[in-house]
Amino acid sequence: MRILVTGGAGFIGTNFVYYLLRRHPEDQVAVLDALTYAGNLENLKVLEGHARFKFFKGDVNDRELVHGLVGQVDAVVHFAAESHVDRSIQNAADFVKTNVLGTQVLLDACRASGNVRFHHVSTDEVFGSLGAHGAFDENSPYDPRSPYSASKAGADHLVRAAWHTHGLPITISNCSNNYGPYQFPEKVLPLFITNLLENKKVPLYGDGLNVRDWLYVEDHCRGIDAVLREGIYGETYLFGGRCERTNLELTEIVLFEMGFGRDMIQPVMDRPGHDRRYAIDCTKTEQALGWHPETPLMEGLRKTIAWYKTNQEWWQRIKSGAYRDYYEKQYGGREIKSQ
Ligand code: NAD
Ligand code: DAU
Repeated sequence: MRILVTGGAGFIGTNFVYYLLRRHPEDQVAVLDALTYAGNLENLKVLEGHARFKFFKGDVNDRELVHGLVGQVDAVVHFAAESHVDRSIQNAADFVKTNVLGTQVLLDACRASGNVRFHHVSTDEVFGSLGAHGAFDENSPYDPRSPYSASKAGADHLVRAAWHTHGLPITISNCSNNYGPYQFPEKVLPLFITNLLENKKVPLYGDGLNVRDWLYVEDHCRGIDAVLREGIYGETYLFGGRCERTNLELTEIVLFEMGFGRDMIQPVMDRPGHDRRYAIDCTKTEQALGWHPETPLMEGLRKTIAWYKTNQEWWQRIKSGAYRDYYEKQYGGREIKSQ
């Protein structure tokens, strides 16, 4: 299969490109990525000159470029997005532009090229926030609450509309929190791991009792690949790790694994509109595709910590560059609660 991977220089996209090339020796993979602050060509450096890989720097909103690339492939797997909730709170404009408008540009190109297969990578955050009980499934109503999740919900609706209105062969997957190699150190796990490697405290939001469901990135990649090849057009598939932890529990595990105590926790003001809990019931996906989350949390965390220990230059370059300004803005003026 010839596959266009948008956002392939980001966290999950990078992992997906490596997964495809390893798992499917017949596949040809092209990446389209704008290389925003979150995209990093260094991630794909070892693929330079690879016979089955090509990289194109460009924006998913660049109609001409997108139409040209989509016309040469059998399928598009769409990761490209502004992905960080905190940034969407500071400035939502890029989220609307890339996540909503950019997705429509890709859908238009798929139609114009004779109904190219389109898989949209989305998030569990479109379903909103859960209380203490229950879990999201494919029939959960949409209730996005951050500018990020609202923009992803908008994209999901456009993708579904392309199926219902035009018969475009689409699938959508909504996944819970990923972790693993190449994750940008603004997200909680790589931020905490790299802070500890620098002997810095870790900023825990609010009471630390918000719950996320953790899935190792390679398990997500395997799932997306299964949907791409075996998914039914028009259908939605949910991925989760069956691995709920409060942020405090997760932080304590990381502290312990890295040889630190609770004194390294820096409680900070909560994220505005912070969703309390996400949980996924992925029974349908498991039954339809035979997919299951395979990597136990401790195994995935140890691999992840080891990766950040081994790849210090990768994240140190990021943290000492433009990201530092964002970090200052994010935490510089934030009230620190007494410990
Ligand atoms: P990321 O921020 O690490 O990577 C996003 C990539 O998209 C970057 O390489 C960036 O350069 C590129 N990009 C951004 N705007 C672009 C544009 N206009 N044109 C072309 N490329 C552009 O994100 P991620 O964590 O890898 O997430 C990938 C996708 O998976 C996103 O759609 C996200 O919503 C979804 N998702 C992420 C998670 C998670 O836990 N990280 C969970 C569920 C779903
Ligand atoms: O659920 C899937 C989503 O997971 C994806 O769609 C998003 O792209 C991805 O960024 C992620 O969103 P979250 O907001 O859950 O991830 P983040 O790593 O930003 O935060 C995870 C939890 O940790 C959340 O409850 C907020 C908390 N947190 C986060 C940061 C950055 C902290 O306590 N301190 C922090 O410094």
